[in-house]
Amino acid sequence: MSDWLKTAIFYEIYPQSFYDTNKDGIGDLPGITEKLDYIKDLGCNALWINPCFESPFFDAGYDISDYKKIAPRYGSNEDMYRLIEEAHKRSIRVLLDLVPGHTSIEHEWFKRSMKSAESKDNPYLKRYIWTETPWENFQGIEHIFGALNGICDRGSVAVNFFSTQPALNYGFANPDKEKPWQSAVDSPEARATLSDIMDVMRFWLSAGCDGFRVDMAHSLIKGDTDYSHVILLWQEIRAFLDEEFPHSVLVSEWGKPDLSLKAGFHMDFLLHFGPSHYVNLFRENPFFSGEARGDLKEFIRYYKKVCKEADGRGLICIPSGNHDMPRISHKLTPHEIKLAFVFILTVPGAPFIYYGDEIGMKYLDGIPPVEGGYERTGSRSPMQWDESPNAGFSAAAPEKLYIQTDTDENRPNVKQQSADSNSILNEVKRLINLRKDNAMLGNMPPIEFITAGEAGEPLIYSRGDGKDKAYIAINPALNAVKAKLSEAVRLVYTLGEKPIISEDGILLQPQSAVVLMGVD
Ligand code: GLC
Repeated sequence: MSDWLKTAIFYEIYPQSFYDTNKDGIGDLPGITEKLDYIKDLGCNALWINPCFESPFFDAGYDISDYKKIAPRYGSNEDMYRLIEEAHKRSIRVLLDLVPGHTSIEHEWFKRSMKSAESKDNPYLKRYIWTETPWENFQGIEHIFGALNGICDRGSVAVNFFSTQPALNYGFANPDKEKPWQSAVDSPEARATLSDIMDVMRFWLSAGCDGFRVDMAHSLIKGDTDYSHVILLWQEIRAFLDEEFPHSVLVSEWGKPDLSLKAGFHMDFLLHFGPSHYVNLFRENPFFSGEARGDLKEFIRYYKKVCKEADGRGLICIPSGNHDMPRISHKLTPHEIKLAFVFILTVPGAPFIYYGDEIGMKYLDGIPPVEGGYERTGSRSPMQWDESPNAGFSAAAPEKLYIQTDTDENRPNVKQQSADSNSILNEVKRLINLRKDNAMLGNMPPIEFITAGEAGEPLIYSRGDGKDKAYIAINPALNAVKAKLSEAVRLVYTLGEKPIISEDGILLQPQSAVVLMGVD
């Protein structure tokens, strides 16, 4: 694992909505470059930028039509090279979003693959998964989301997500002999797909990017119910990277670290889908809400299990949110968001902060969907920089904005929160500094849970594997609670009212959190 990952703190940027420098109502790459000092000042030292490549934008850019070209609405390839260079000058690493599972229907590969009559030597005929007739579909085949038929004079083509996103053909785990369109994983067509995707990776890594967040990483091989084939595929990709770009980093959107880290990913996220119960932290019946008082038993059980299985192989990341789920603020008050950040910034793994969560931007429930965002659009609204029109995001007319801004006149913004020592932004900064100043709170040292995550109970855990340990206790409840923590001796951080420390333990005030240092 690259050394820089051991201290990485990520910031996810949705490029459409971060900062618009050319007044067209949509964010751009020069806008990200201009705000690098803000990101550095926040304390983050790594970026994940959502796809910014050429696309017809049926799924906000997760439907790519040219992997090697920046979409003109964000700028040019040169703008990306400059962004990377300027980020590196500030010791900020850059991960791009790799979408290996599918392209757009407008990708040249797909257009060529539609032309069945063109020639038998057309190398793209089997680059996607086409049945013999349009009446056949893919029901019951794992990792095929649906079928697109009638788009040309061929059969149905397998899709990975929306029907504008045909799945690339990496082969089937157990191809059905009766169905010749099911390629083997070692067929020439599956190998050609892999080689082209490696070429895309080579292109951007040669341009200086530090690695990729990999979209739907688990989905590449069809019918692979136990993931054994896709694990081998990623191990092969990892071996290629180790050879040519040994410092490059791969983060998977998989949500099952027990599998993805084995596959060679350095990190995986716990997500709002999958087995992790991540949603119980901040979203569904959230533990961090004083009102909801949900429990974290299942989350802790799963998290402990995967930490054990990962066993130092890589990092398990708990993001504040992302572009696919309601924002962390949806079910939490501003103070509860701070409590949540105490957790996010004191657990192992590289923290990921979704842009705008650091100021508690709202989830804009019910706003009109944009580019296939549907209800996800509410988490993708323009970053709120100051009190000027469009919250300082863009100088375009408000009706020209890609997504509308929060219309609340008290919407939070960076400028006002920078000046307020009590703001979420300043709390996040304090917590990042605390993490940086105390090695035990960093990405690598193990975690041990002291409480089991019962509803109403404080969440208490320790960090560190030596004699010295850090203890974190978070009480989201509306009442004070007692915690036994006799080993903890030195209080280094408090959020909310100060605890009362006595010989038989600590009285944690309502909705408060503490970090203590102690000896086991
Ligand atoms: C991932 C992305 C999501 C996208 C989908 C299809 O889940 O995060 O935004 O729509 O994959 O690429």
